[in-house]
Amino acid sequence: MTLINDYFWEIIKTDKHFTMTSKEYIDKEDRFGAHNYHPIPVVLHSGQGVYVWDVEGKKYFDFLSAYSAVNQGHCHPKIIQAMMEQVPKLTLTSRAFYTSTLGEFEEFVAGYFGYDKVLPMNTGAEGVETALKLCRKWAYQKKGIEENKAKIIVCENNFHGRTITIVSMSTDPDSYKGYGPFTPGFVKIPYNDTEALARELEDPNVTGFLVEPIQGEAGVYVPDQGYLSRTYELCKKHNILFIADEVQTGIGRTGKLLACDHEDVRPDILILGKALSGGVYPVSVALADDDIMLCIKPGEHGSTFGGNPVATQVAIAALKVIKEENLAENAARLGPYFREELGRIKSDMIEIIRGKGLLNAIVIKPKNGKTAWDICLALAGNGLLAKPTHDHIIRFAPPLVITKNELGEAIDIIKNTLMAF
Ligand SMILES: Cc1ncc(COP(=O)(O)O)c(C=O)c1O
Repeated sequence: MTLINDYFWEIIKTDKHFTMTSKEYIDKEDRFGAHNYHPIPVVLHSGQGVYVWDVEGKKYFDFLSAYSAVNQGHCHPKIIQAMMEQVPKLTLTSRAFYTSTLGEFEEFVAGYFGYDKVLPMNTGAEGVETALKLCRKWAYQKKGIEENKAKIIVCENNFHGRTITIVSMSTDPDSYKGYGPFTPGFVKIPYNDTEALARELEDPNVTGFLVEPIQGEAGVYVPDQGYLSRTYELCKKHNILFIADEVQTGIGRTGKLLACDHEDVRPDILILGKALSGGVYPVSVALADDDIMLCIKPGEHGSTFGGNPVATQVAIAALKVIKEENLAENAARLGPYFREELGRIKSDMIEIIRGKGLLNAIVIKPKNGKTAWDICLALAGNGLLAKPTHDHIIRFAPPLVITKNELGEAIDIIKNTLMAF
């Protein structure tokens, strides 16, 4: 069968009819769009697998993967096919009615991750909001905490999204400054500090612990081995919900299906987004067992687009690709090779290399006024896209479909770029 995507790919490859230059596209965004991002100045037009192309026809390795949303590679033919088959049939009904697709998705996703139930939303932030709501409802209905007194413990340097409640949990001024007043009920403790958690768990109003198994946006901070299992055990001892935000770390990225799987931890509430759709469509979920999930009753939470027919078909296809193509195994295999090869680069600008699977970062020591931003500009010039996080850290997270040969080529680009500084 010829996949629909092949047809479009032929058109894309031969489409040279751009009416504007990169600079003109950038100027238009600058003129008419809000200035809430600071992109690397490339204007992308198409993508396939590990590659993207700009409007001038230049080809790049994508080493950001839309912040790990494109684990399955750009425009994966099976995911695009699933979307194209659903779109002409039915796209949106809202949850006012049942559909022929939602139950199939719920059964598939619940079974895939091993939970009783799933609550579908769209963005990662909505998945996090859903988990926070579930946790508070559970606190009042099941744990017996007095109404409005529940506390949720979060970690310093977290990144869980951009809503007012979520930035209320943030310790990064870029995220929260100027957005107060903030949502109360959160206690911030240092990341990777089991003792700090143990101390806070003595408070009887604490009901949940929200954690990223690896802090992605903060700069790919990998906690000590045993941190997740020890904090999970502490939560169990105190009857506290362990909530894992695997929006960035989940779905193969770190070399296992979930980053929590590295320590055999099964979160009480699991939050997923991004690669749940292979970057094709916004799909997020919170997963939990009945005891927690059924605390939310009809009318108490939802989203017009959450669980829509297109989202369900895209997500099922995206999750099948992860297993069919052994993408978690590929990340596990190539991650150590990547870090080892980065370690061979004799550049005094590399301070630290860290990561797990294909979620990696280098910490940059500025040199002659040149920073991580300058390196990313040079990388783009040499055909590889990456973006600094927090000024001095560059995250490297290619699509998980990357082969060893492709990764070798990318490593050469990184090496040559760094050595030129
Ligand atoms: C760990 C984590 N949680 C939540 C989010 C928010 O996801 P979204 O941007 O889809 O709202 C992100 C986004 O980077 C993330 O990395």
